[in-house]
Amino acid sequence: METTPWIWRNGAFVPWEQAQTHLLTSTLHYGAGVFEGVRCYLTNQGAAVFRLRDHMERLLYSAGVLKMEVRFTLDELCTAVLETLKENGMKAGYIRPLIYFSEQDMGFDPKRDKVDVVIACWPWAEYFPAEGVRVKLSSYRRIHPQSTVIDAKISGHYVNSILAIQELRGTDYDESLLLDHEGYVAEGAVENIFCVKDRVLLTPQKGSILPGITRNTILRLAHDLGYETREMKLLPEDLFSAQEAFFTGTLAEVVPIASVDAHVFPLAPGPVTQHLRRTYGELVAGRLSQYHSYLSFCH
Ligand SMILES: Cc1ncc(COP(=O)(O)O)c(C=O)c1O
Repeated sequence: METTPWIWRNGAFVPWEQAQTHLLTSTLHYGAGVFEGVRCYLTNQGAAVFRLRDHMERLLYSAGVLKMEVRFTLDELCTAVLETLKENGMKAGYIRPLIYFSEQDMGFDPKRDKVDVVIACWPWAEYFPAEGVRVKLSSYRRIHPQSTVIDAKISGHYVNSILAIQELRGTDYDESLLLDHEGYVAEGAVENIFCVKDRVLLTPQKGSILPGITRNTILRLAHDLGYETREMKLLPEDLFSAQEAFFTGTLAEVVPIASVDAHVFPLAPGPVTQHLRRTYGELVAGRLSQYHSYLSFCH
């Protein structure tokens, strides 16, 4: 991965290579950490972070789920992200805030006030090719919502995603799609999913997914563009009978799905997907004034 010179840690900048932690740090063993993935884009008014406050609100919500006592406020964390970008001179790329239990303690009730907050950033261009991705239905199910707090972005949840992605090794697939414990479509390993049926956008309802900030943006954007949207339970067959499908996520942005297992979407990348992808690109680049409140500028 590309690196940048500085990482923000508990209110100060440390050089990237010195941003280290002890091997017996609690979160390293048990996965009880929380994080965010945020993007910043170069707009014609300079660098801007997309939906910064929403991401940092989710970060603090996730930290609250793990009973972490974070000593920075929402405003302070938002400012810290902007300062990290400025310090590194980064105009476009990816931002990774992380909060972890920092004690060297192997007990299972880590001290709630012993948490480190770090913010790193680095360039991370398009995650998937624009033409679309070949998707495999995973043999793993999304984590049961009663086994965790599924709408929190908890580090340990990503073992489920990593296992699903590891299944793709040695195949032609680009990404995994996981069903929930009842067999309904849940989400990609690190994306939410939409399909388009007769110009209506369908997406799995909340309950077994991480309700993504990009998903939320697309629901608003689609509505504003005149598309009907429905959040509902979807079976794999519903997906297969749709004309188009696409993933959304901070990392993947809006990416067409070319196929799921042997089912090929003949239109991919379909017209509705392309319309939304293009408009999303304009939105994050600050070219649509009605969505300017989504952008935090790095002046
Ligand atoms: C499991 C999962 N679902 C959905 C998403 C999309 O969320 P967002 O749009 O907030 O990035 C992510 C993003 O990392 C994810 O990890």
